[in-house]
Amino acid sequence: METTHPIYLVGGSKGGVGKSMVTLALADYLQRQGIHAVLLETDTSNPDVMKALRDEIRCAAYDLDDADGWIGFVNFCDTHRDAAVIVNTAARNQTGVARYGGTLARTLDELDRQLVVLWVINRQRDSLELLHIFGQTFPDTLTHVVRNGYFGAPDKFTLYQESQLRKAIETKGRSLDFPDLADRVADELRSQRISIRKAAEMMHIGERAELLRWRALCNAMFSKVISADGETREQ
Ligand SMILES: Nc1ncnc2c1ncn2[C@@H]1O[C@H](COP(=O)(O)OP(=O)(O)OP(=O)(O)O)[C@@H](O)[C@H]1O
Ligand SMILES: [Mg+2]
Repeated sequence: METTHPIYLVGGSKGGVGKSMVTLALADYLQRQGIHAVLLETDTSNPDVMKALRDEIRCAAYDLDDADGWIGFVNFCDTHRDAAVIVNTAARNQTGVARYGGTLARTLDELDRQLVVLWVINRQRDSLELLHIFGQTFPDTLTHVVRNGYFGAPDKFTLYQESQLRKAIETKGRSLDFPDLADRVADELRSQRISIRKAAEMMHIGERAELLRWRALCNAMFSKVISADGETREQ
């Protein structure tokens, strides 16, 4: 049987933890692996990732704060069976996930899809508490935690390092380290609303050198959990 690509949900709930950056990097990684991917943007008030990617991949926006949005989400996954679905979530989706996330959780089998969560954290406690709550809606999901290097080196994430949650995550998933990109390059990505691929073509030589350094580290990170043929890797 042909295996379908997973749904990759980039979560983290909190504002500004780096979800959009990780989503952009993931889209770039999948494209470079030759994996057909589509984007589901759930940050309907600030669809930054969709704006950056809409010239390159198929995008749709659904608001996960209401039941309609979840229906659209499930249908979109069904329509794009041949593609990996990347979901960029918004900080405010938390209540919608708790209320309606079960709609998706119950349908994954029928869709023949695996849900893979990349949960982006900073060094604060609420990143972990929100992950715990999320896990209650999606108990069978393969979840990887992404320590965003923007907030410090891996050993600075002491709360996570010492948590029971880390042990639970690492029975199935992994703890990953998302590389820090120089501020001036990150700022340019953000203000120009461009994809990593486009940025790699357009940026000035110095910025591009930094971008390519960062991209190689992103590549190394994603290859730990997504192999070249798009299969996901468990521990
Ligand atoms: N790894 C990183 N390297 C460099 N800058 C980063 C990194 N992660 C985050 N940032 C900075 O933090 C800002 C916020 O990141 P981002 O927009 O990805 O967060 P978010 O979780 O999507 O926020 P929101 O909840 O508002 O959607 C970025 O514009 C960027 O300047
Ligand atoms: Mg965002």
